[in-house]
Amino acid sequence: MSRLILAGLASFALAAVAVAQQPAATPAPPPRPVASPDDPIATRQLLFHLSAGTFGGMKMVADAGGDVRPLAFGAQGLVRWARSIPSMFPPGSVGAQSRAKAEIWTNRSDFEAKAAAYQNAATQLAAAARAGDRTAFLAAWDTTRGACGACHELYRAGTP
Ligand code: HEC
Repeated sequence: MSRLILAGLASFALAAVAVAQQPAATPAPPPRPVASPDDPIATRQLLFHLSAGTFGGMKMVADAGGDVRPLAFGAQGLVRWARSIPSMFPPGSVGAQSRAKAEIWTNRSDFEAKAAAYQNAATQLAAAARAGDRTAFLAAWDTTRGACGACHELYRAGTP
């Protein structure tokens, strides 16, 4: 075997060791319960998860100066989800798996107002996207982010 091939094999082996030793950048989170019609907790958590991904991704596009018009689809999805939030918190849907606080049911009208504020902000977000107005989109994004936080502060337990 030529020296060149041997040297190539040696550096390949070293690279393979390096890859094997490298810790995963983001370890996979433990599996969560599967969404199902019988499980409002798992279902709403999944919808919160997916909506947060949509919401964060659209900010990156707008910040990078991208066209906001295609983001109207995702923003409209947030509007639909915001409208659905109250019904995804039926009485008694609490437990070890959930971060929902009991105040959701004792201050129900305020909780619903927080969901409505989210819906209104997301409606502005969708309108700004449809208009192709990046400045208005970013302003509506901040308002929407505020609506997420206003609800979490009172009604979601644990670290923000
Ligand atoms: C009206 C109240 C309310 C609004 C508005 C709201 N959330 Fe939440 N969110 C909650 C509650 C309550 C939970 C905990 C649900 C549970 O564990 O049962 C939660 C959970 C989450 C989770 C964790 C999901 C999981 O995997 O367990 C994420 C992520 C999240 N919200 C993101 C957002 C984002 C992003 C917004 C705004 C774009 C938002 N939420 C708006 C009340 C709200």
